Amino acid sequence: MTNRIFVAAALLTALVADIAFANAANVVVVGANGRTGKPLIKMLKERGHHVRASVRKAKTAAGLGADEVVVADITKPETLTAAVKGMDYVMCVTGSGGADPATTDNAGVAALADAAKAAGAKQFLLMSSIGAEVTSVDDPSVRIGKVMVAKNKGEAHVRATGLPYTIVRPGGLADCEPGKTGVSLGLVTAVQNREINPPAICRADVAAVMAESLGNTAAMNKTFSAIASPKDAPNAWKAKLKDLPRD
Ligand SMILES: NC(=O)c1ccc[n+]([C@@H]2O[C@H](COP(=O)([O-])OP(=O)(O)OC[C@H]3O[C@@H](n4cnc5c(N)ncnc54)[C@H](OP(=O)(O)O)[C@@H]3O)[C@@H](O)[C@H]2O)c1
Repeated sequence: MTNRIFVAAALLTALVADIAFANAANVVVVGANGRTGKPLIKMLKERGHHVRASVRKAKTAAGLGADEVVVADITKPETLTAAVKGMDYVMCVTGSGGADPATTDNAGVAALADAAKAAGAKQFLLMSSIGAEVTSVDDPSVRIGKVMVAKNKGEAHVRATGLPYTIVRPGGLADCEPGKTGVSLGLVTAVQNREINPPAICRADVAAVMAESLGNTAAMNKTFSAIASPKDAPNAWKAKLKDLPRD
């Protein structure tokens, strides 16, 4: 009897491992050394993926836990072919820190999306921002019009590539543990976000939303906001991805 239980448990373990392996993919995280990139790599590894960390300086990749490292810069298109080569999924979690949004959030993201398309990637996943709906730098609904307009243009380019994509627009970010509070996914604009006035969303929760969206038809060709929602159960958002409208 004990032997039978042991054999059944071993078979189940092998089956679970097989399922994880069957879903395993090659994923590159661009902006891997960032505060969202780090938890994202951890989550992708936990899901059994082969992860390439794309960083600007090789030494920053130490300790990220990726399977491989590539040095690339989205403002230098000639570095991007190597960054995305052989990758099923390209995840962009870069940030300009507001320094030069036109070359990073706009042209850089566009160049990366083009490289992903040329490499035959299955999906491009972009971390953008609530407020990226604005098209004028003088739009009073956002504080940093230049950044938001650059993100708006970068997003538009991603959609225009024809590559399947998911664009996540988080609200204000914080560094905290994932899965401790609810997350609300929707179509919240900067104006609405100010009215809701949610607490900051954990970067790691945004990473979780992106990891869940990878290869997920429920998230394909969608642009949606992500804000913290303490009234919701942690992880309840997963079941709501499919209800979000396609672009
Ligand atoms: N702060 C907020 O409240 C807020 C709210 C909503 C959305 N967002 C957006 O969320 C995104 C991620 O934010 P985060 O705070 O996680 O970012 P972060 O910690 O500042 O990390 C950004 C990463 O992007 C990399 N990077 C910058 N320029 C690059 C380039 N030209 N090529 C390649 N990599 C580049 C950086 O590389 P290095 O490691 O080499 O520096 C860094 O690893 C950003 O787009 C940000 O605008 C922020």
